[in-house]
Amino acid sequence: MSEPLVLGIETSCDETGVGLVRGHTLLADAVASSVDEHARFGGVVPEVASRAHLEAMVPTIERACETAGVRLHDVDAIAVTSGPGLAGALMVGVAAAKALAIGLGKPIYGVNHLAAHVAVDQLEHGPLPEPCLAMLVSGGHSSLLRVTDVTIGVDPLGATIDDAAGEAFDKVARLLGLPFPGGPHIDRAAREGDSVYVDFPRGLTSRRDLERHRFDFSFSGLKTAVARWVEARERSGEPVPVNDVAASFQEAVCDVLTRKAIDAAQTQGIEDILIGGGVAANSRLRAMAEERAAAKGIRVRVPRPGLCTDNGAMVAALGAEMVSRGRTPSALDHPADSSLP
Ligand code: KG4
Ligand code: ZN
Repeated sequence: MSEPLVLGIETSCDETGVGLVRGHTLLADAVASSVDEHARFGGVVPEVASRAHLEAMVPTIERACETAGVRLHDVDAIAVTSGPGLAGALMVGVAAAKALAIGLGKPIYGVNHLAAHVAVDQLEHGPLPEPCLAMLVSGGHSSLLRVTDVTIGVDPLGATIDDAAGEAFDKVARLLGLPFPGGPHIDRAAREGDSVYVDFPRGLTSRRDLERHRFDFSFSGLKTAVARWVEARERSGEPVPVNDVAASFQEAVCDVLTRKAIDAAQTQGIEDILIGGGVAANSRLRAMAEERAAAKGIRVRVPRPGLCTDNGAMVAALGAEMVSRGRTPSALDHPADSSLP
């Protein structure tokens, strides 16, 4: 028998994602984003996101099937993000997945969004190294996780105590007059900038902070430092060197992220670091992590940028892994759980 065909649905935030995966092979990854509708608000508006998911769901499923050249009836299992995320947005995906599971008479697997960000890597680099240290950095979270078996869950070692890394990128971009979401714009601006132009603070890295928050992050102080610096520059009447500030800010974020990820891996005796989430698309983070980890004999895996941001393929990838490891499907009445750990 050929490997099972799994359809994955992701609606935890502002992307309606539908992916089709057979084993570790990606067949389709259709994403409809409502990001433009949120841009004028400077952040994701939950009600707008839910409505957009509702409108995009059926066309996105159809597009995925068309790309993969499969019919819905060929699907062997449905996987869906059950949390964490925006409650209303999750409910649209979970309802669609249940409808498909009932209509097709196929099992449904409710999966954890964070574990899916980890599992997606096997579509690109093959079987996951387990245990591995996963660093998930996105607009909603910044966590260091120990992953022993991705189908069972992820164990948090540390997380942000205030803003998520992506949120910091978005807020600083706004300060610099760059569009939302700001990460890709800062990434691009930073390539033309001087990363040692301003020595911005590295949150939770003092000896005292490390005692209590060794694997935690804090980015709100950094954001405030950038705001103060920009304000002072504007008051002086001199132009703000956007590229240099972007590069210096990005350097501070990447420095802390890579330092703590490597420290966590070493402490856990883990030789593989996997980076996921939207911020993993950052070119400086990828380069710095690879360089610093290699110096310590640690391997780094980062999926290609298109797989790092939210998508349905990651959910399908984790669903396929659950099928192949013989995990029990979820009940048909399993709830969307916005506060899933
Ligand atoms: O994982 P994701 O698509 O959605 C969730 O938040 O769950 O991540 C989106 C975040 C946004 O904050 C965006 O600014 C950031 O990822 N991002 C980046 C880059 N591309 C996306 N941040 C830094 N550099 C990038 N190249
Ligand atoms: Zn995400």
